[in-house]
Amino acid sequence: MSFTLPELPYAYDALQPYMSKETLEYHHDKHHQAYVTNGNNLLKGTEFEGKSLEEVVKGSYGKNQALFNNAGQHYNHIHFWKWMKPNGGGSIPGSVEKALVDGFGSVDKAKEEFAQAGATQFGSGWAWLAVKDGKVVVQKTPNGENPLVHGATPILGVDVWEHSYYIDYRNRRPDYLKAFVDNLVNWEYVEELYQAAIK
Ligand SMILES: [Fe+2]
Repeated sequence: MSFTLPELPYAYDALQPYMSKETLEYHHDKHHQAYVTNGNNLLKGTEFEGKSLEEVVKGSYGKNQALFNNAGQHYNHIHFWKWMKPNGGGSIPGSVEKALVDGFGSVDKAKEEFAQAGATQFGSGWAWLAVKDGKVVVQKTPNGENPLVHGATPILGVDVWEHSYYIDYRNRRPDYLKAFVDNLVNWEYVEELYQAAIK
């Protein structure tokens, strides 16, 4: 199975003013496309050809760094587009709300720890809500890594590579993270992944 670039699930200008058309054009059409193209070239002739994307990500970690970087970023971005929606960030489905209260004491505290993880990830990387041992935890990872290679299942991730926010927010990464949490998160998709993770 080779990697293919998915269409965005909304129009390029649908997330304005929180994420611009220009950011999505570069981020999706150039950056994600490059991970797909490079990943496919690196996949050829390896033991991972024909495996699912999750299997490629987990299997290449620590074994084939170049392939892992591109496969990891392909996986992360497929979900990242779906983790956002126009008019996002609103009410949280009950099962996820309960899990956040159980794990962090309150929804606000969970959001704060998630945004803090993104703000403090040094250099390029991601911040996550992930299910580990049945509980929702916050993680942060460098470059293309994600919770799959750290014993957990991602249910929400935010890209803190500069390509994700520099056009719209310049160096103000915390402002981008606040806009992501308050106005972009697609909590219904988070719930879908949460339900699958606790099965
Ligand atoms: Fe990205």
